[in-house]
Amino acid sequence: MTVRPPIAMLAELTHRCPLSCPYCSNPLELAKKEQELDTATWVDAFRQAADLGVLQLHLSGGEPASRRDLVELVEAARTAALYTNLITSGIGLTERRLRELDAAGLDHVQLSLQGTDAEMADHIGGYRGGFARKMQVAEWIGEIGFPLTLNAVLHRQNLHQLPRALEMAVEMGARRIEVATVQFHGWALKNRGAMMPTRAQAAEATKIVGEARKRLEGVLVIDYVPADYHSDYPKRCMGGWGSTGLNINPEGKVLPCHAAESIPHLTFDNIAEKSLREIWYEGAAFNAYRGDDWMQEPCSSCERKAVDFGGCRCQAMAIAGDPNATDPVCIKSPDHEKLRRMAEDFAGDDAELIYRG
Ligand code: SF4
Ligand code: FES
Repeated sequence: MTVRPPIAMLAELTHRCPLSCPYCSNPLELAKKEQELDTATWVDAFRQAADLGVLQLHLSGGEPASRRDLVELVEAARTAALYTNLITSGIGLTERRLRELDAAGLDHVQLSLQGTDAEMADHIGGYRGGFARKMQVAEWIGEIGFPLTLNAVLHRQNLHQLPRALEMAVEMGARRIEVATVQFHGWALKNRGAMMPTRAQAAEATKIVGEARKRLEGVLVIDYVPADYHSDYPKRCMGGWGSTGLNINPEGKVLPCHAAESIPHLTFDNIAEKSLREIWYEGAAFNAYRGDDWMQEPCSSCERKAVDFGGCRCQAMAIAGDPNATDPVCIKSPDHEKLRRMAEDFAGDDAELIYRG
């Protein structure tokens, strides 16, 4: 098969974060500050990414503002002619720092929303006063004029706030909102009992998004990630494994998706040791699930395999115990019934949120 260059790269600059959201999809074991790539290695990685064909760079974490060299990194990315998007909770950003980021060439900000009021947001983020600071940061973002996307992660505890989240996006002048029903990877797997939406909530969210898309056409773009445990077909995870994007984790491992380390048989190359080009085209982890040669039935003979590529490999690993299996979200998967029962059991659970450390 022909392998095309990647379009987007997610640079997970750090795992450090002032919040402790129970839906965090980062691994259980986080990279420590002293394990993080240094500035020069990131700068070189950005240059290599641009040479490889990457157009968009998403600077993420953890909280990327925890990196003292964030402004320098944005400047380097801009010099490499990458479109830069900062994915942030807002905590750790001052007006001065935002203006420095603007001067360095930052193109876009994506601000997370844990809830639409202080009570919910501070409870979910595990950080008192976080909502008030986020609202202040949102104001500065508007004043400086950064294009803004809101990212609202929704689950059983805050799905009733979806209508208000949409209103807030409009009030803040955001161009886009990502309404993302929680995806269970990494730490979030521990919180399925506390966060799994009910089937009724999932259906209601789809209805609200459908109506809002019509009502807000031309005002706000709404990206929607439905509750996959309540869906019949899987998402096209990462746009297809090794086809459009790649991630670099804080320690420099180059990953086909942010949860790829949950697949035990894969090994990952490090940007400090190999070129990004070699890793993208020749790396064993990237080639493991490209195309459809790896597929089993029912995917291998399915007419939808060019649509969803068999779904998410990390979810197949987590639920079916086999990364080559059909994503259990799929109605044709032998594990779909198991997933459906899990969804109902977890949605009926009254477990407490489990925060990191
Ligand atoms: Fe997608 Fe596989 Fe399900 Fe077909 S069988 S819809 S390819 S996950
Ligand atoms: Fe890894 Fe979906 S999160 S393939």
